[in-house]
Amino acid sequence: MGQDMNIWSSSLNGQVAIVTGAGSGLGRASALGLLKAGATVVATDISQKGLDETKALAIDIGFPSLVTKIMDVSVESEVKRVFQETESELGSLDILHSNAGVERYIALEEMEEVDLDLLLDVDLKGVLLTCKHAIPAMRRAGGGSIVITSSVQASHSLPGCVVYAAAKAGVIAAARTLALEVGNGNIRVNAISPGTINTPMLTRDLADMNVGKAEEFLDTVKSANALHRIGEASEIADAVVFLCSDKALYITGSNLVVDGGFTAVKSI
Ligand SMILES: NC(=O)c1ccc[n+]([C@@H]2O[C@H](COP(=O)([O-])OP(=O)(O)OC[C@H]3O[C@@H](n4cnc5c(N)ncnc54)[C@H](O)[C@@H]3O)[C@@H](O)[C@H]2O)c1
Repeated sequence: MGQDMNIWSSSLNGQVAIVTGAGSGLGRASALGLLKAGATVVATDISQKGLDETKALAIDIGFPSLVTKIMDVSVESEVKRVFQETESELGSLDILHSNAGVERYIALEEMEEVDLDLLLDVDLKGVLLTCKHAIPAMRRAGGGSIVITSSVQASHSLPGCVVYAAAKAGVIAAARTLALEVGNGNIRVNAISPGTINTPMLTRDLADMNVGKAEEFLDTVKSANALHRIGEASEIADAVVFLCSDKALYITGSNLVVDGGFTAVKSI
């Protein structure tokens, strides 16, 4: 289906969304996708430069209304402030895409505490804090949808990713369990697990892994999935918009894998 045939268009009209990590990659694509689907979007990130670029792209595609706010997901006072501001300035909070994440390719036995803390603070605690502060506003709105970005690394392992994988597996468990806690408020909570997606994180990952020839590595990744290609950020955004839309009203507590069939392939 072509990008122009957006079957979800207008399905999020009137809804207010916060996206974390929206200054780059998947969060940026999600913010733009939610805008196109009709939502009012607050793009948040620790990078002002990244947010400025996202804002410029939103203006380019006809959505100058995009709101941007600096927010570190690992600092509760900042999360609390941004979520309160959003509800009071825009009238409600209906959607959270808790997406900000960091990755470090370091074997656990060599990992410094500072890197271990960063991975857990952003990839696990940051998700929990953003969900915590979204829920009261969503209850007041009469419901909502939370999507948490996990990863196929929650179930399929690569050396050097112990803490990242633990955090990503943790957020799938958190989504499933939180869905039970907040279903009575008509709030749905789902995880999404991307495979290998073309974002700045992928570029940095390749450098971290000391892969001499990036192209060779990418060819290996491509041949390891059913579609034989790397995914695009917009393809994850489409899945996020779907999970937030009225086409997914009975989907909660799930983990939607969007990986071109990477986890479907049986290794020899
Ligand atoms: N790219 C992939 O192949 C892939 C695959 C699976 C999962 N993921 C996950 O998708 C999410 C987005 O990754 P991406 O590829 O877009 O990466 P990216 O590096 O392009 O973007 C991540 C964004 O998060 C922001 N960020 C970092 N720390 C933050 C913090 N403390 N508070 C707020 N924002 C912060 C960064 O500034 C950046 O803008 C991450 O959770 C990542 O783990 C990515």
